[in-house]
Amino acid sequence: MLITIDQALAPDQVAELRARLQAAPDAWVDGRATAGFQGAPVKFNQQVDEASPVAAECQAVVLAALERNPLFISAALPNVVYPPMFNRYGEGMTFGAHVDGGVRIDPRTGRKLRTDVSATLFLSEPEDYDGGELEIADTYGEHAVKLKAGDLVLYPATSLHQVTPITRGERLACFFWIQSLVRDDGQRTLLYDLDTAIQRLGQTGADETARTTLVGCYHNLLRQWADV
Ligand code: NI
Repeated sequence: MLITIDQALAPDQVAELRARLQAAPDAWVDGRATAGFQGAPVKFNQQVDEASPVAAECQAVVLAALERNPLFISAALPNVVYPPMFNRYGEGMTFGAHVDGGVRIDPRTGRKLRTDVSATLFLSEPEDYDGGELEIADTYGEHAVKLKAGDLVLYPATSLHQVTPITRGERLACFFWIQSLVRDDGQRTLLYDLDTAIQRLGQTGADETARTTLVGCYHNLLRQWADV
């Protein structure tokens, strides 16, 4: 499932992050610092050093916003969220086709985290740069994603994807991964659809007994499929 979440960050939060990131030029390093065997040869961008103070400050803003976002919770069913990272593509920079690493080490805990869902949170307005589309391939074809600042896209971490070359301006973004309670994308999608329908029934005055039964089905499916 590929899903976009509008205004995961409010405009003032985007402005705050942009100001913090731009005020810390020494924190930016070559993006290949964290690329794996497959990604390093095709990755040409910059990212904020995960150990820098500005990274921690900006991560806190993003994580707090995600925790309060019901659409994010429903779609990702997060178990562990990797500390958000921040990248920058200037003119000529690009990240060629790759699949994100399946397991990462959580720098906070040293524990391994399975990457079920990949996330990109756009921090630049689309009119401020040309190119820089996030192209994601799934079973239905290729999707070019270029969202407004503050908007978030979630997609299965199993997807082949790339960031096309920037031909004008600068693209600033936040990216991270989620180990979901439900590792299978198909099961997660069913739960998301069921939850969305249940919410809608609640808003439209549907039969309460039938709705309660569906809520029970949701939780009993989650119980069957969740690993915690
Ligand atoms: Ni990637």
